[in-house]
Amino acid sequence: MCGIIGYIGSKSAREIVINGLKKLEYRGYDSAGIALVNDTTRVFKCAGRVRELEDLVNKSDFDGTTGIGHTRWATHGEPNELNAHPQVSFKGNFIVVHNGIIENYSRLKKHLESRGVVFTSQTDTEVLANLIEHLYLEGDLTAEQAITLSLSRVEGAYGLLIICTQESDKLFAAKKGSPLVIGVGDGENFIASDATPIVEYTQRVIYLNDDDLAIIKKNELILKSIRSEMIQPVVKELDLKIGEIDKEGFAHFMLKEIFEQPRAIHDTFRGRLLPDYSGVMLGGLFNVLESMARSERIIIIACGTSWHAGLLGEYIFEEYTRIPVEVEYASEFRYRNPIMKKGDVVIAISQSGETADTLAAVKLARENGATVIGICNVVGSSIPRETDAGVYTHAGPEIGVASTKAFTTQVTVLAMMAFEIGHTRGILSDSVYKSLITELVSIPDKIKKALEVNDQTLNLAAVFQNTHNALYLGRGYLFPVALEGALKLKEISYIHAEGYPAAEMKHGPIALIDENMPVVVVATKDDTYEKIISNIQEIKARKGIVIAIVTQGDEIIKKMADYVIEVPETLPALSGLLAVIPLQLLSYHIAVLRGCNVDQPRNLAKSVTVE
Ligand code: G6P
Repeated sequence: MCGIIGYIGSKSAREIVINGLKKLEYRGYDSAGIALVNDTTRVFKCAGRVRELEDLVNKSDFDGTTGIGHTRWATHGEPNELNAHPQVSFKGNFIVVHNGIIENYSRLKKHLESRGVVFTSQTDTEVLANLIEHLYLEGDLTAEQAITLSLSRVEGAYGLLIICTQESDKLFAAKKGSPLVIGVGDGENFIASDATPIVEYTQRVIYLNDDDLAIIKKNELILKSIRSEMIQPVVKELDLKIGEIDKEGFAHFMLKEIFEQPRAIHDTFRGRLLPDYSGVMLGGLFNVLESMARSERIIIIACGTSWHAGLLGEYIFEEYTRIPVEVEYASEFRYRNPIMKKGDVVIAISQSGETADTLAAVKLARENGATVIGICNVVGSSIPRETDAGVYTHAGPEIGVASTKAFTTQVTVLAMMAFEIGHTRGILSDSVYKSLITELVSIPDKIKKALEVNDQTLNLAAVFQNTHNALYLGRGYLFPVALEGALKLKEISYIHAEGYPAAEMKHGPIALIDENMPVVVVATKDDTYEKIISNIQEIKARKGIVIAIVTQGDEIIKKMADYVIEVPETLPALSGLLAVIPLQLLSYHIAVLRGCNVDQPRNLAKSVTVE
């Protein structure tokens, strides 16, 4: 978590860094700070959001042509001004912004305290700043030597930007675990946690790798390993447009992203389908398709919404490939010494490509000899660079913290993979294969239709905005959708919500049902339709309020439920792509009516780069 940005050149660093922090705020937003360098250096920081930092900086006319900034998601120390970054070393020679965690900070701190160093914050970052300063002064080192020596003593993860006030013609950047990308300009350079704040200035970028150290001047860029070996930088062209990170007239990024789903899914399969929809061709899997088709087991690892997409993927894969699939939380998988066999295939799903637990699970799976495949959205992020093969979702930047289009595009990729592997294995005949693809291609238009329930969900939101609890139920393919619906509601409206397999309701949650309990039942038509009708009756018998998501034209559930929302008909395996739409919209409208900050809900961050 946390967003960092740096600039060195001839323009106003203050403007570039503050604007950049606004774009990175989705990564954390409990405090913010900036350091600016001209003849002298000044640090401004405060608790709260970037706009409060901007107000603070605007009270001064100080500016610089070099600057670094930070927007924080607190790990060590409460979010206040003292703990905000930049952290300044005890003699003021080093100014540091950091994304990540220094795990051995308390040992390092004790050592520094025993040498007389006094600390002013509770952060692990101040420990690093002071360690650099201490080694710099004690060993009479250059800034670069002090930084590399310090990093060799640090355990944990970091994306770091460092100014040394004695060598202020350069910025130092170092990466291990947390992402950093350099934007290469003419007579100026940029560096940030991701490319979103850079894209308006340059399309040329360099993604740093773990253990890289960059020394960035306005006209020069030196890349080394932290062991001081020179590295030849690889400059890539960004595939990101400025417009993609605007709200484009929508009130919130989340709403824009919900409405973008037809386009996003279309982009996911664009160029990946053979003429006449006779086949899927995922270029990124070219080298691993055979081993996937031969594998005896697939393990899907992910966190949050991506985990829900993975669970839906399990149902699709098992039905169409007949390969057993296990879905694991990355955070559990990585710490339980999982049993892995030769030939296992691991699919890691992550919108950001940076989630620390998923990244660590990927590394573990590779160490154990598995073939690891990534399904990620952010191009060039860490997970795609650690995997054997992969497929980008091409959903475009997702800024709202609550994931929407990432979910549907991940499911789209999983469906394409399952269809392709099922066909390769001979489970799917040519004609079934083609009919599945043809149905997938119709999904963007069907989502457009599903989005027409927007006003209806707004009205429903007005009815339920003050509820304290909600249950979400679904069976089969629709169970992961129920989980996702419940997650959306709790994330952004802070209403307690639980997702459950509908039949499991009898084993506990049914005790919660009374006339005040809204129960959202995801009940589009599939093989378990009759069963879910019984579940609805069980809820009604206990006076629960049923909001049912049904297939267009469903007259049976209409008579039983208190409210119904219709979505177009599709194959059961793809029904989640449509049924999730009203759930996203309902959560969105409830959160807005409750006055919640939809795009940046409290305590959450878009990209969880700490474990
Ligand atoms: C955070 C986000 C969620 C996301 C999860 C996994 O918790 O708030 O929206 O689903 O991380 O993120 P990933 O980038 O790995 O999909």
